Order: sequence, then structure tokens, then C-alpha cells
Amino acid sequence: MTLRLNSSQKKTPLSQITRNSFLLICFFFLLWYIISSFYFEQEELLSDKNEETLTEVHLTSLSTLSSNTTITTIADNDNSKNQLEELNKKYCGKPICKFLFVYIIGEQETKANLHFRSFSQLAEKLNRIMVLPNVGSSRIGTCNKFPFDFYYNITLLQKEFPNVLFKSENDFIFWLKERDQIKKIMNNNDKPLSILHSSVKINRSAEKTFYDDAEPNFDVYECISKFEPLMNLKDPNSRVRYTKMIIKEMDLIREKSRVEFSKLLTKVLTIDEEIILVNGYVVHPLFLQIMPVIPYNDYILNEAQKIKDKLSFSYIGIHWRLESSTPKLLPDCVQGLIKTLNKVMEEGEIKNIYLATDYPLLSTRSQSSTFGKITSYHHDAIRTLNETFKINTWVSLGGLEQLRKNEKYNKELNGSGIQGILDKLVCMNSNYFISGPKGCSRVISKYTKAIANERSNRIKNKDSDLLNVIDRWEIPL
Ligand SMILES: *[C@@H]1O[C@H](CO)[C@@H](O)[C@H](O)[C@H]1NC(C)=O
Ligand SMILES: *[C@@H]1O[C@H](CO)[C@@H](O)[C@H](O)[C@H]1NC(C)=O
Ligand SMILES: *[C@@H]1O[C@H](CO)[C@@H](O)[C@H](O)[C@H]1NC(C)=O
Ligand SMILES: *[C@@H]1O[C@H](CO)[C@@H](O)[C@H](O)[C@H]1NC(C)=O
Ligand SMILES: *[C@@H]1O[C@H](CO)[C@@H](O)[C@H](O)[C@H]1NC(C)=O
Repeated sequence: MTLRLNSSQKKTPLSQITRNSFLLICFFFLLWYIISSFYFEQEELLSDKNEETLTEVHLTSLSTLSSNTTITTIADNDNSKNQLEELNKKYCGKPICKFLFVYIIGEQETKANLHFRSFSQLAEKLNRIMVLPNVGSSRIGTCNKFPFDFYYNITLLQKEFPNVLFKSENDFIFWLKERDQIKKIMNNNDKPLSILHSSVKINRSAEKTFYDDAEPNFDVYECISKFEPLMNLKDPNSRVRYTKMIIKEMDLIREKSRVEFSKLLTKVLTIDEEIILVNGYVVHPLFLQIMPVIPYNDYILNEAQKIKDKLSFSYIGIHWRLESSTPKLLPDCVQGLIKTLNKVMEEGEIKNIYLATDYPLLSTRSQSSTFGKITSYHHDAIRTLNETFKINTWVSLGGLEQLRKNEKYNKELNGSGIQGILDKLVCMNSNYFISGPKGCSRVISKYTKAIANERSNRIKNKDSDLLNVIDRWEIPL
């Protein structure tokens, strides 16, 4: 730095000043030396303190005098490093920002919620910022349209994971942009973004769990390209490594081997790369400890409360997922349901019925993306039920009204999405909860199980509004 400055145009006047002051100082120094040498020890004076003071004066005066441009030209890698560090300190409180971005989390909301918690535990172990992927259509992943807080309460999430720093996709983009900007100004290409892309997946036929390198672009989800050109997996200026973690399912089912697995995962991902991108499909929890459900935001909770109010705090919640039913059984199924409803209404003195279903309510499309073929058996069953009782749904009760007014949410509301969460909450709150038997509906459902678990907890905590955990109606013989 000093060298460059000396050769700048300001050299002449300044060096004159410097020479003059140097001579002046030398004179006084000599005088002082002669006088003081009588009083002080010699060694103190042998130090080069004076020279140092001179250099400092020299530098300071130069920087103040030099123009803005001079500073930019003389800025070198050190300066850009400082700027990067400043950005990182401001953004993540450390000189280096490290991210874990699980940009695809397999499965629908109830299970994705669980997997998101697992990966947040991993972020904590790796001491990395956890990027909050978008949500939509009952999924958590960057391919969706809405920010994470469209479903969840980030404040409460943060409370659950006090040691993890969470950042939205927009915040992440902000960091990428700022970093890119600094690199451009400094014309500095020696700090490419370093990325590890890993596919972390269960393979049910895998004989053992293993972690290995993978070929370039292995198992990359297309929509990650939305971060280009700031984050580019193909750009030769980024350093991208590809790996895969193939998991033997039993290793996550048995608690003891799950502990082993979580240690292995933490170990192999303890790396220097700034960004770890994960395409995850794990099916089971990754760590021994299972954290509580990520709470939903106030908007959805309030909608559930409004529905409870409209049903006078007295209703039977029915979860009837028709997707995996046997269509020919449906006429019998609906008779069984009607019988059970009559019984519960009479014995429990409950007046209202709320139906949570994947049967299309808003349009001809099913409320579940995986529920394709709707037959006349399905239509007839729902019609019979609807002719026997007054059936309330989130649509008939005006739930999510604000969203329904906005075209932006059409696709979300016609498919399976935020209303699935609303239905789940309404069923959790119901005084009596029933679901279908095998043949009539999907039985092995994490969604139904989540409702039952929550109800069971509330009953344990002496919530007297709840009359049961879960009942399944029967097909009449
Ligand atoms: C100082 O540098 C900044 C950023 O490079 C530039 O925007 C600004 O115009 C410069 N100011 C002067 C006085 O040259
Ligand atoms: C799972 O592992 C088996 C056996 O190693 C392999 O043949 C198969 O392609 C893998 N499946 C997936 C989806 O990776
Ligand atoms: C998150 O939860 C807290 C505590 O219940 C609440 O005060 C806050 O309003 C919630 N935020 C959102 C966005 O739902
Ligand atoms: C039940 O019937 C009413 C009145 O015909 C109709 O508006 C409503 O959409 C029906 N509900 C269902 C779930 O089909
Ligand atoms: C969604 O349903 C609404 C009716 O509420 C309809 O007008 C709209 O066209 C549907 N959109 C899609 C994408 O299916």
C-alpha cells in the first residue's frame, strides 16, 4: 500500500512536507537526545519508535488527502476480503457465512414438517444458517411459490431452535447479491462460491448406508436454477462438489442405528463449503430426539378458531380421505358413517358436522394432487352424506376467505395446500373425531395420526372439550 501511494501524483508536495518535518524532528530529536541522555538509560532511545511514528503520520495524511478514486484503485484482495467479512459479520455474525439449504424436502406437509425439523437439528450440529425454503401445495421446497411463513410461524420456530439462525430465501438471495457485488467491484475471481450438492435419500433396497462422491449434476432439482446467475451450479467460477448419502431404511428405524447415522451425517457434512444444498427424501427422523411440530402461523390458527366459533364449539370432525378407498365399497361406507354419526350426535349431544376431505370442494379437481380418478361411486357417496346431514366444510363456512379473493392462490386452494393444514387444525379442535376404516379411506396416514396424537395430548392435559381421541366407523355387514 505504501509503495503505491508514494508513486501517486500527490508525491511531490507531500514528500516535501515529510522531508521538512523529518528534518525538524531530527533536530529536536538530537537536542532531546543530548539533553535526555544525561537522565535516561540508553536502551530506551535505541528503539525505532520515532521512525514508526513518522510512518504513521505519513500514511494518515496521505489517505485523507487522496481522492476516493485512489482508494478504489489501490484496493487489493485484502480490501475485498475485508468487505466480504464485513458483509458476513453483518449478515450472519461471523466472518464466514455457511448455509444449509435443504431445497427439497420430500413428502407432504405433516411429514415434511418432521423432516424440516430433522434438518434444522443438522444445521445446529453443523453450525450453519438454515435457509427457509418456500412452501405451497402442502410441500416444503424451493420449487413452491410462497415464503415459508405462509404456513409457519418463524418466531416460534426460532424459539424451538434458539441456536440456529434461520434466513428466508429472499434473505439468502440478498446475501448472494451483496457478495456478488463485492466480487465484481473488486474484480476478484479468486473467491468463487463454494457449494456442496448432496442427495440425501432413503433407498429401500439398499443393503447398507453409504456416503460417496457423485457425478456432476447428480440428482439436481431443476428449480434450483432460479438462483442463477448468483448461484450457478454449472458456472466454472463456482466450485461445486456432488455427493450422495444413500440410507438403508432400517438405519433410521432402529433408534440405536439412528444415533449412529446422525453422527455419520454430521461428520461427513462438517466441511468448508459455504453452501450445502440438499435434495432430501428421508421418510424417517434423522436424529434420536424428535422436536415438536413447527407451529403454523396466526392466520391459519385464527381461521381454525373462526370455524370452531361458527360451529358453536360443538361439532364432530370427520376425516375422510377417499383417495385410497375401494370405490365399490363406498355405498356401504357411507351407510356406516351415517350410522356412526347418528349415534355420536345423540350420545354426545353434538349438533354439527365438519368434513375434512380430499373430495373436490372448490372445483372438479381433487383436493389432493395424488388423487386422480374420481368415479361416480365417490360422487354418490358424498351426495348421500350431504343429503342426510348438513355437511360443513372449510368452503361452506367461508374459511380462508381473504386468500380465495386473490387469484394468486387459486392453484393452492384447488389442490392440496393450506386448506389441508386448516382441516387438520379444525379436526384437532373437534369435540369428537372420526375417520374411515380400511377400504373406505386411507388408513395409514401421518396426517390422521398427527390429529390423533395432538388430541391425545390435549386429553392428557385435561382438555374437557374433547370427548375422544379417534374412532373409526364400521362398514355394516
Ligand atoms: C467514490 O466512490 C464511490 C464508489 O466507487 C462512487 O460512487 C463515488 O462517486 C466516488 N466519489 C468521488 C468523489 O469520486
Ligand atoms: C436403490 O438401490 C438399488 C440397489 O442398490 C438400485 O438398484 C436402485 O437403482 C436404487 N434406487 C434408487 C431410487 O436409487
Ligand atoms: C407467532 O406466534 C407468536 C406467539 O404465539 C405470536 O405472538 C405471533 O403473532 C405469531 N406470528 C405469526 C406471524 O403468526
Ligand atoms: C352439499 O349440498 C349443498 C346444497 O346442495 C351444496 O351447496 C354443497 O356444495 C354440498 N356439499 C358437498 C360437500 O358436496
Ligand atoms: C380454482 O377454483 C376456482 C373456483 O374457486 C376457479 O375459478 C379457478 O379457475 C380454479 N383454478 C384452477 C387453477 O384450477
